[in-house]
Amino acid sequence: MRRVAVIGGGHTRFVTHSPNTSLELLAEASMDAIANSNISPKDIQAINCGNVLGEFTDGQGMIQSYLADDIGCNHVPATRFEGACATGTIAVRDAAIQVAAGVYDIMLVAGVEKATAMDTPLATRTFAMFSDSRYENPAGFTFPAVFAMLCHLYASHYDIPLETLKEQMAQVSVQSHYYGARNPNAQFQKELTVEKVLNGPMVTTPLQLMDCCPFTDGAAAVILASEEMARKLTDTPVWIAGTGQASSGHLASQSRYLPRIRARELSVKQAYKMAGIGPEDVDICELHDCFSIASIIAAESLGFAEFGKAGQLWETGETKIDGKIPINISGGLKSKGHPIGATGVSQVYEVSRQLRGDLADQGRQVDGAKVGLVDTLGGDGVIVNLVLKRD
Ligand code: COA
Repeated sequence: MRRVAVIGGGHTRFVTHSPNTSLELLAEASMDAIANSNISPKDIQAINCGNVLGEFTDGQGMIQSYLADDIGCNHVPATRFEGACATGTIAVRDAAIQVAAGVYDIMLVAGVEKATAMDTPLATRTFAMFSDSRYENPAGFTFPAVFAMLCHLYASHYDIPLETLKEQMAQVSVQSHYYGARNPNAQFQKELTVEKVLNGPMVTTPLQLMDCCPFTDGAAAVILASEEMARKLTDTPVWIAGTGQASSGHLASQSRYLPRIRARELSVKQAYKMAGIGPEDVDICELHDCFSIASIIAAESLGFAEFGKAGQLWETGETKIDGKIPINISGGLKSKGHPIGATGVSQVYEVSRQLRGDLADQGRQVDGAKVGLVDTLGGDGVIVNLVLKRD
């Protein structure tokens, strides 16, 4: 297999109620990525496009072919991907495999969502379609409810008083907003305090408003290239050194593992093995923090803390830029936002910028970061992981 690099990326600001269509957002991020990669649209040989809700939010299916046309690439295959919140990461992983296999030399991967085109009740019901439609969705499971349940399970499984866990979770949100306030692409650029989190409105016990990621509009794009092309186009290629993906199925089928998501442990093992690294080698991680408890659960399965202990990473500041394992220095889904079709692409964009050392002027550069990990969860249990490395 050939080596594959991320050679550049583009990003719209993530917002509530964008005045632009999904197609316009996609085109903006894609043209930004093309310009930042020193290529032109005619150099792109294939497009992978992540979009989940286009039919509902824009009345637009087949968005990938209109993207190809709008950016001057209608000569190439354009394929749409859907994997709920993991859509973008699946699209990047698939492109990496195609470039590694020698099918294409340069690919564009772009993702978009306009989730706030729907109001919260409709978006909540629509997102609930990503849970199992036989047993979960009809029983009224929504994603805030799923993670509230995981929170109770976590507290009882590891014998942690709920109040202690809630304070740890609040630290997760406080840190996310601290870095989000320094990320010009973030939806919420406002710092928080633990008191503000704990005194916020209740969404679904025990999750409060500031434990939850928002609904978001926005797009992100990256350009992947073979090693030969990457060496010609950039001095700072960021290699996709390992990938993994696994599916857990509906929650009942994972009952022996919960609150852990079994697919994460399978997926990250594949990614670490392929990259020849372990969790101790990771310098920066963007993980799937759709709810504050989700960060704690993810950090353990990724190998950054013992099971039942990850909350202490945030309590002690080990997840900050100068800590043992910097996590979600973009602001994460919580503060940067979560436009589901774009989220994974945005995570890859962020980690690759960290590995290039691009973020010092935003006050959120992890000094000397060489190895990054991306972690994304879709629905009840599709996990995708990517290990990125710089030379
Ligand atoms: N974090 C921080 N602030 C938020 C927020 C969030 N998650 N969601 C909304 N806000 C802010 C809004 O900007 C608004 O502020 P303003 O009054 O200063 O303008 C205020 O809170 C109320 O916003 P509103 O849109 O009315 O909130 P809501 O009650 O309709 O929705 C949630 C809040 C948390 C219920 C909703 O964002 C949600 O369900 N999030 C989870 C999304 C999800 O499940 N994603 C999939 C994950 S797997």
